[in-house]
Amino acid sequence: MENIKVDFKNARLFEKNVMKYAKQVAEIHKKLHEKAKNEKEFCGWLNLPTNYDKKEFEKIKKIAKKIQSNSDILLVIGIGGSYLGARAVIESLTNTFYNLQEKSIRKTPQILYVGNNLSPNYIRDLIDYIGDKDISVNVISKSGTTTEPAIAFRIFREIMENKYSLKEARDRIYVTTDKEKGALVELAKKEKYTTFVIPNDIGGRYSVLTAVGLLPIATAGIDIDKLMEGARIAQDRYNDENLKYNECYKYAVIRNILYEKEKNIELLVTYEPKMHYFIEWWKQLFGESEGKEQKGIYPSGAEFTTDLHSLGQYIQEGRRNLFETVINIENSENDIVMKAEEDNLDQLNYLEGKNLSYINNQAMEGTKVAHVDGDVPNIIINIKKLNAKNIGQLIYFFELACAVSGLILGVNPFNQPGVEKYKNNMFKLLKKPGY
Ligand code: PA5
Repeated sequence: MENIKVDFKNARLFEKNVMKYAKQVAEIHKKLHEKAKNEKEFCGWLNLPTNYDKKEFEKIKKIAKKIQSNSDILLVIGIGGSYLGARAVIESLTNTFYNLQEKSIRKTPQILYVGNNLSPNYIRDLIDYIGDKDISVNVISKSGTTTEPAIAFRIFREIMENKYSLKEARDRIYVTTDKEKGALVELAKKEKYTTFVIPNDIGGRYSVLTAVGLLPIATAGIDIDKLMEGARIAQDRYNDENLKYNECYKYAVIRNILYEKEKNIELLVTYEPKMHYFIEWWKQLFGESEGKEQKGIYPSGAEFTTDLHSLGQYIQEGRRNLFETVINIENSENDIVMKAEEDNLDQLNYLEGKNLSYINNQAMEGTKVAHVDGDVPNIIINIKKLNAKNIGQLIYFFELACAVSGLILGVNPFNQPGVEKYKNNMFKLLKKPGY
């Protein structure tokens, strides 16, 4: 029984038009697998679920246990691909109010994030919140030079060194970075921090299943073996070069066909608030991979039913350049049954005996029909339930789909030249030496 099934019926395209891409997709499939052999092509993520560093994986589990035993908080310092994947998985798979739960219930450290903005309010509030709680820090940066996490690390390094002895501070700082390049690797060597390596052939936004994501995820008590198992299932399932049998490649093709039809905004939709950061991760994956050379679908997101009361009007009747990809989680872990009330003043007795998950599902069905009728094509990704194995599959599904989609579009999905522009301007204004 497949745990993830994609339904393309409501994309309203003819199969024969999809199959016109079969030859191109088979070529891309071969090309990607060729690229995966060359470190410089940044395709290490393709075989990662079967080809990961097992020793490093065990070290991640060991250090996660150590952090669980000596810390109230794990501070994750990173930006973009160096934090979104971890946050996406942690928030999808833990209690909605994980960080607010009593430690005795949560059992694992709070996970807080910093180094993903430059707001003094954010950092000051965080410092105040931490107070005298015990913390560990995981600073994550492939380049080791990104300004936002570097600034946060400088601030929190000092805090750690004042809070603990120098030895203990060093013992509570974990660095995830390149094997040999960058300021962070030098700093880690000098301070003898425990380090984790981001493989050379994996770029930030494809790195969630390396130590980048796995250390914070394991610290939050999530079974990373199951996550990898799910990714392995997807690696195997979506390895067929034949478009006809490959739902992942079909998703990539259908996005491109819709884009050709001027549907140039994709909304990734969820009816589960826990998936909020999964959408953020997905937006970064597709936005940074495809948005170049004046091309690309703009990746956006929406949480229903919340956003049906804000964006719903636009989606239904605004400019017709949207399509939706809906993640439908078929079985909710929890449920609530609606009861009848004698006076029925709120007029909800018609829902007596119905589960909230059923009501949520009917909202989804009603919305789908309304949006498709309103000329918003829908792709539905049905997932049996929210668990580590299925999230692992979904991660791999989107990474592969993103690469193939970008290659169909004719861009390089593994670079991000445009990101440098703001940095250069900012460095000039800040008078950074050399700018
Ligand atoms: O996907 C990417 O490559 C980027 O989003 C990076 O992850 C982000 O810019 C952070 O870079 P670094 O890990 O070098 O600090």
